[in-house]
Amino acid sequence: MFHVKRQAEVDVRAVAEAMFGDRYPLAEQYVELLAGAGVRRGLIGPGEAGRLWERHMLNSAVLGELLPEGCRVLDVGSGAGLPGIPLALARPDLALFLLDTMARRVEWLREVVAELDLAITVHRGRAEDPRVRDQLGGKDVVTARAVAPLGRLASWTLPLVRPGGRLLAIKGATADEEAVRDALAVQAAGGGPVEIVHCGATIVRPPTTVVVVPRRAQRVTRTPRARRRKDR
Ligand SMILES: C[S@@+](CC[C@H](N)C(=O)[O-])C[C@H]1O[C@@H](n2cnc3c(N)ncnc32)[C@H](O)[C@@H]1O
Repeated sequence: MFHVKRQAEVDVRAVAEAMFGDRYPLAEQYVELLAGAGVRRGLIGPGEAGRLWERHMLNSAVLGELLPEGCRVLDVGSGAGLPGIPLALARPDLALFLLDTMARRVEWLREVVAELDLAITVHRGRAEDPRVRDQLGGKDVVTARAVAPLGRLASWTLPLVRPGGRLLAIKGATADEEAVRDALAVQAAGGGPVEIVHCGATIVRPPTTVVVVPRRAQRVTRTPRARRRKDR
């Protein structure tokens, strides 16, 4: 038994080293922060401390499979920094922004970003607040894990995504059910056809289930004056 467990630990380390490359030491530092101060300050449950690599670090970082080079990503409801910080560590080409509404979580995020010396900006606010939309809107991608049911999440976050961009919602076993149940709410929020994809099939077990919601391109409604001009 001990032998099997030891082998599994070795495998996770090898996978994590491949995932984070020369930033693996920083990923290790973040895991230590989560397991220590993160647990003490209630950012992460004590039961999670022993499975941070698989269930949190790798599970988050595999989302990178869906992110084009250099895109601007806003992680909404980032909490302890998930999935935003592992993504930033695995993909330094991305421009990462973290948003959370709770002061003590934002304080934690700012401390972690400073400690790891990451080029990430941290914002405090509610995703659905018009001031947050003005400040942070127009991103290529919004990510969210364990923040709200899909319909509500889409109404909060799609206005923060540029037309043609995407919301990537990490969901567990409820992904299919939520996609069907909330289809109308997603459409009303400006979402296009929803797709469910699995990331990291060779990296994490089970793979990370992601609900992908594209933001529909804005329909151009021509004013009567513009229409007359065009028809001339
Ligand atoms: C259950 S935690 C999940 C945290 C992290 N994404 C994770 O997977 O570990 C939900 C987080 O969403 C934040 N949150 C909830 N509603 C929000 C909103 N409307 N705008 C921004 N953040 C919100 C909460 O403060 C909390 O940190």
